[in-house]
Amino acid sequence: MLVNLKTILSGLNQKAIGSFNIYSYETIHGVCKAVEKTGQPAIISFGASYLNNMSLNTVKYIVEEAAKDLPADVVLHLDHCKDMDVIKAAVEAGFTSVMYDGSALPFEENVKNSRTVANMAHSNGVSVEAELGSLALGEHSNETDIDHGEAYTNPDNAADFVNMTGVDALAVSIGTVHGMYKAKPNIRIDILKEISQHVSIPLVLHGGSGTPEEKLVECIENGIKKINVNTEISQYTVAKLYEIITEDKNVHLSKLTLLQSDIVSEIVEKYIRLFGRI
Ligand code: 13P
Repeated sequence: MLVNLKTILSGLNQKAIGSFNIYSYETIHGVCKAVEKTGQPAIISFGASYLNNMSLNTVKYIVEEAAKDLPADVVLHLDHCKDMDVIKAAVEAGFTSVMYDGSALPFEENVKNSRTVANMAHSNGVSVEAELGSLALGEHSNETDIDHGEAYTNPDNAADFVNMTGVDALAVSIGTVHGMYKAKPNIRIDILKEISQHVSIPLVLHGGSGTPEEKLVECIENGIKKINVNTEISQYTVAKLYEIITEDKNVHLSKLTLLQSDIVSEIVEKYIRLFGRI
């Protein structure tokens, strides 16, 4: 069943839900296959930067159909969006969660816009994620339009931000990057612990790709309830498809598209199990 973010993230004890970026029929089906296989929930995340790949309505129809018979709940989430009109359109299309990304704005402006989005979305039963602090851009990321440089989330501001905006989940910056790491990751669990002490809503970790598994688990143990993964799914799938095409240049496209869903589901399943600690 399609549920909102607040519902799927509530009552999680030392577990997190994976948020996996999709941009095609095959990637949506890959995530749904992993949900089917594990019996665990997932967040299907469509970034505003992929609007050239699919329209909001197309994503909604495919996800709604694919999620109908799944053994666990899924959320249809709009990832990283600064455009109020796109956020409104996603709510109208039937997305159950939206992320307003005001991380590049001064604190007061980020608060004001995040609150406006929360009021609009909540009146439609839709959850809202906002971001305080910003992530650096790693290698091979597709999120080049949200590269604001690294700025760790200030734990002192985090509680005020949540109280003033009324958002349902807070994305924090603690050293992960969008894309693969250029150097050894330095994940600031100390900052996360401090934020967790001040903030009672679920915390979100962007930039899951390439983060050491033990660090991801430590993040979950310290309050992270949603973890976003994009680049690694793409890299894993492209590498496997490359092997297949190298072996057989005449492979039919219809076969490749099916294989694409299977390969996406393999890597998504790995993360669902890690985050759900099953
Ligand atoms: P990665 O591409 O680093 O996994 O980040 C994904 C993400 O945070 C999407 O919002």
